[in-house]
Amino acid sequence: MGASLSRSQLRRLYDRTGRWQDILSFYSGPAFDALCTRPDWGAVQSMVELGCGTGRLAERLLRTHLSDEAHYLGLDLSGRMVAIAQDRLSSFRSRARVRQTDGRLSVDLEAGSQDCVMATYVLDLLSASDIQAFLSEAHRVLRSWGRLVVAGLTWGDTPVTRLVSSIWKGLHARWSTWVGGCRPVDVRRFLGEAQWDIRHHEVVRAWGVPSAVLIAEPR
Ligand SMILES: C[S@@+](CC[C@H](N)C(=O)[O-])C[C@H]1O[C@@H](n2cnc3c(N)ncnc32)[C@H](O)[C@@H]1O
Repeated sequence: MGASLSRSQLRRLYDRTGRWQDILSFYSGPAFDALCTRPDWGAVQSMVELGCGTGRLAERLLRTHLSDEAHYLGLDLSGRMVAIAQDRLSSFRSRARVRQTDGRLSVDLEAGSQDCVMATYVLDLLSASDIQAFLSEAHRVLRSWGRLVVAGLTWGDTPVTRLVSSIWKGLHARWSTWVGGCRPVDVRRFLGEAQWDIRHHEVVRAWGVPSAVLIAEPR
């Protein structure tokens, strides 16, 4: 899968990127649109997001899709991202909390306590073992009918998007920081059939960049 950046490299990178992150991730729009229409967001009362970045998607969900009773917790490795997301979500008061982590994939939440665990454009910068660690932690904290919601870079399925994802992988192999540490990943291959039921998977495209949107339920 190619070498991943270390946690300290990622923290420095995203501390430097700051608010530019929303512009640099120009390719995430269609994936966010697809993801906002998919799960029954109105039924979600508790959710946690790994790698919330600037809190852009959380703000959209809290403003438009989640019920007024829903509570959101955002976690991020970068202090700069956490500060931006806290500022952005401050009007939601105690319904939205954002915390800095040391990058470990375990969360101090009770087993079976969450309706939704979300990660967008994060698994594609984690090592294979960290992706596995995140998925087992998501499985632990989700209720039996909860939803894992993931979006991220993936492999193309058309001539143009196949070319773009190969170029992206090449850039990641040589200049990983240029692409935010992210590379195309097929998250489905990490979801064991015994643990997860994939409810939805689609590939969307923006400017030739393919992203996968995936929703799964723990078994
Ligand atoms: C490409 S950005 C995506 C931000 C946001 N989810 C989005 O889609 O716009 C990746 C984010 O994940 C955070 N991150 C990377 N590794 C992490 C880890 N191990 N734990 C928590 N956050 C992490 C980075 O600091 C950064 O904010």
